[in-house]
Amino acid sequence: MTTQAEQRDEGRHGGHGGGHGGHGGHEASGAGRGMFDPANLERLLGEQRRAALPPEQTLHTAGVTTDQTVVDLGCGPGYFTLPAAEIVGPRGKVYAVDVQPEMLAACRARAAEAGVQGIEFVQSDGIHVPLPDGVADQVLISVVLHESKDRAAFVREARRLLKPGGEVALIEFRKQDGPPGPPKEVRLSEEEVAAVAGAAGLRVREQRALNDLHLLYHLAAT
Ligand SMILES: C[S@@+](CC[C@H](N)C(=O)[O-])C[C@H]1O[C@@H](n2cnc3c(N)ncnc32)[C@H](O)[C@@H]1O
Repeated sequence: MTTQAEQRDEGRHGGHGGGHGGHGGHEASGAGRGMFDPANLERLLGEQRRAALPPEQTLHTAGVTTDQTVVDLGCGPGYFTLPAAEIVGPRGKVYAVDVQPEMLAACRARAAEAGVQGIEFVQSDGIHVPLPDGVADQVLISVVLHESKDRAAFVREARRLLKPGGEVALIEFRKQDGPPGPPKEVRLSEEEVAAVAGAAGLRVREQRALNDLHLLYHLAAT
């Protein structure tokens, strides 16, 4: 059972607990607008979040399917990473990428405990991801972009990782007051997402509401 406090804190990041204005969270590093504190990672895995954003269903809606190579950019403790590896299956692959080593460690531990195979863990420096160009059918960016200090560079790097015809599946909070989630001022409006995508050589091919909190954007090469 998830407490109301946990529900309020879902998606809360450094700043929304600390750096963005004090919701009992955390400022994990100076690398962005306030990153989600690994100390609170259980909040990303709770029942309330599963109800609002069911992982398997969300991944299917995002376009993740069997045999794909998926980059989970900003994987956190692997809320989407583990089910993505199950969906892509033995002929697919998931790269779990995060800037925070604690998040990668948590993701790795959860995968090991669940016996989920087919995940490679990759440490990024916040912008550069040490993977070759064109590896991914899908790059999943779930509630990460608003944390990035250089959003255009972050999305450009995601684009670099796409195979021809591949897409970025971007999940972000609607630009509205929380909680749950980060303060409205750090959230991206639909226009801001389109502008950041455009600056990275991507266009919003489609966008849809996942629930009353989150939007999903399919970003394709221009
Ligand atoms: C709010 S959590 C979301 C985790 C996961 N995507 C999910 O939906 O459950 C944001 C994650 O993105 C990571 N992150 C933030 N900025 C990043 C960056 N520039 N590059 C890679 N990871 C980043 C944080 O360390 C954190 O693990």
